[in-house]
Amino acid sequence: MHIQLKNVVKTYGRFKALDGANIDIAEGTKTALVGPNGSGKSTLIRVIMGLISCEGEVSLDGRSPYLRRSSTARETAYAPQSAPRTGATVDEIVKAVSAIREIERETVVAAAGRLDFDLNAVSSKPVRELSGGMKQKLMLALAFAAPARLLILDEPTASLDAESRGRFFEEFESITGSATVLLCSHRLEEVRRLVDRVIVLNAGRVAYDGPAADFIRDRSISLIEIHADDPDRFVSQGNGEWLNELGFHRGSKGVWTKSVDRAAKLDLLESLARRFDSNSVDVTARDVENYEQ
Ligand SMILES: Nc1ncnc2c1ncn2[C@@H]1O[C@H](COP(=O)(O)OP(=O)(O)OP(=O)(O)O)[C@@H](O)[C@H]1O
Ligand SMILES: [Mg+2]
Repeated sequence: MHIQLKNVVKTYGRFKALDGANIDIAEGTKTALVGPNGSGKSTLIRVIMGLISCEGEVSLDGRSPYLRRSSTARETAYAPQSAPRTGATVDEIVKAVSAIREIERETVVAAAGRLDFDLNAVSSKPVRELSGGMKQKLMLALAFAAPARLLILDEPTASLDAESRGRFFEEFESITGSATVLLCSHRLEEVRRLVDRVIVLNAGRVAYDGPAADFIRDRSISLIEIHADDPDRFVSQGNGEWLNELGFHRGSKGVWTKSVDRAAKLDLLESLARRFDSNSVDVTARDVENYEQ
């Protein structure tokens, strides 16, 4: 499915959750939608699915999703950020979504099983009584149950433990066919391997749009941390001043930090290694993606 947004604005009262978004996503591509909390990711997804109205133009294959909500729903597999707060039972939700998407209950049960979720065991429970992880698995099982032309997953791993995340990644990677995939997350480090393109939202605007590889190369930084066992002695040897000159920031007792481009990381680590004795000073380097910059 081909997604186009032209100058999309969504206001809540006076607040602009989307502030002139222009996006064009080709059929069959996988895109990560990232950005800090409140940047408009979920709002953008709701606009694309035609769940809410907006200003500007939104089209799926040239047609308005808002005016064709039922056919959009039939063609879209969607796992929302949080399960609907409903007294309906698991089975009632499965029935309702299966009817809209024209899929069999058994395929949902099988998809749940692949996420290590025994759907039959909880089928008569109200959805709101499920644990956070179970709710998320239910939403994901409904989304993964059958191929769709558009697959949208909003923060799909937020409530999953490490093992379930692993199962989710396996399931995601096994998606075949021509689905257009939108993966929404505030954790770029987790989704970057799964997509070809990254769109970053910041305050309702597109702050970056391009290939995932370029984004990671351009924006990646390393966080260098230095822990001194005996901070007073460490400082009295002139190390505090030396680190200050190198641009380190003194944090809690005995800890200095600095973020550097990954390219500059090795040079810096080398000069730290030359100066410090590894018995009294611990140096760690952690690669992170600073998409908020
Ligand atoms: N129904 C609503 N009424 C009023 N304001 C809203 C509504 N929905 C979203 N907002 C506001 O719009 C902004 C964007 O919200 P949105 O949920 O799209 O962010 P997000 O990028 O998905 O954040 P998160 O990472 O926390 O999921 C926020 O400031 C939010 O408070
Ligand atoms: Mg969100």
